[in-house]
Amino acid sequence: MQLFLDTANVQEIRQAVRWGVVSGITTNPSLAAKEQIGDLDSYRRAIDEIGRLVPGPISAEVLSLDAEGMIREGRVMTKWGSNIWVKLPSTPAGFEAMAVLSKEKIAINQTLCFSVNQAILGARAGTTVVSPFVGRLDDEGHDGMEVVKDIVQIYRQYNLPVKVMAASIRHPLHVIAAAKAGADISTIPFKVLEQMAHHPLTDVGVARFTQDWKKAIKV
Ligand code: E4P
Repeated sequence: MQLFLDTANVQEIRQAVRWGVVSGITTNPSLAAKEQIGDLDSYRRAIDEIGRLVPGPISAEVLSLDAEGMIREGRVMTKWGSNIWVKLPSTPAGFEAMAVLSKEKIAINQTLCFSVNQAILGARAGTTVVSPFVGRLDDEGHDGMEVVKDIVQIYRQYNLPVKVMAASIRHPLHVIAAAKAGADISTIPFKVLEQMAHHPLTDVGVARFTQDWKKAIKV
């Protein structure tokens, strides 16, 4: 399973890239706004900067609510880099935009997916990747990971060439569950990546080895 970073923060991206664990980036309007990106031109510049740091797909999300606007923005966004996935929502207008943009060979990330049925529609409409939002489903009392599992199973059963990206990941256990469910990708916040990298026993072990080594040198 590949790991993508779910952020528009360039410092976080630099750090994660140094660790050698990140295969791509997902952004959305909320993540962009957190970095004071409030218009299409600054969004484009941020995506361009991120694209120079990460040799993998970068997702940029359309802002329009109607199909026509999404198609227009998608055509623009796809040119923001050499490997852009245009994020389109799981709405009727989003499916309409997917149908048009996929025929133009524009890579699509179907976002805000909360049901298996939405994932089936996205696959039919030509999405490249589907992003079920696990954490937000859990928040509502549903089992988000069950949706990931079912999508993976159905796509495999019909040999559909759509990647499954577990999104809205809240903690390291979500990452493990997504890997077990067979997700192709998990897109995770930087905080979760840090949590994955740390274990108290590793810290204790490193401290003990260092101490023992120092003692041996004194003898
Ligand atoms: C995915 O592409 C989204 O940007 C993201 O995972 C949303 O997660 P959230 O529920 O933490 O906002």
